[in-house]
Amino acid sequence: MVQLTVNGESRQVDAPAAMPLLWALRDVLNLTGTKYGCGIAQCGACTVHVDGTAVRACQTSLGDVAGRAVTTIEGLHPEGAHPLQQAWVAHQVPQCGFCQSGQIMGAAALLKDTPRPTEAQVEEAMAGHICRCGTYGRIKAAILDAAQRGA
Ligand code: FES
Ligand code: FES
Repeated sequence: MVQLTVNGESRQVDAPAAMPLLWALRDVLNLTGTKYGCGIAQCGACTVHVDGTAVRACQTSLGDVAGRAVTTIEGLHPEGAHPLQQAWVAHQVPQCGFCQSGQIMGAAALLKDTPRPTEAQVEEAMAGHICRCGTYGRIKAAILDAAQRGA
């Protein structure tokens, strides 16, 4: 049993401490917004926040986050109306959508630390997030727009 806070709620997760956080979120807690892409920390689809920092849930164990605060895409904003989510809609960013929750969580961590990033800072921060549909241009435009909206 591992205790952690998920999206503001204290949770007791009945699973081995060695289980990847990604499986605990998806298969035990039924938070399926976080996606499995590569499983080897190379794509960013599984990005969540741990104590406000972006991490790859496929390479983080449940035990690693014991007593810590995890935020998933479901908890980024209570109504799904974070400035990034609003900008994502305005710019019609997703294609298949599979990578997008990870993209948004990565971008949210960037804007928390760097509220007014340059284009180069956005490109650098998002470089590890792969989109097989090639939505990179719209992702960058939406992040810069969200920064203007005060993310
Ligand atoms: S599934 Fe975790 S980085 Fe690809
Ligand atoms: S929108 Fe399809 S992988 Fe990014």
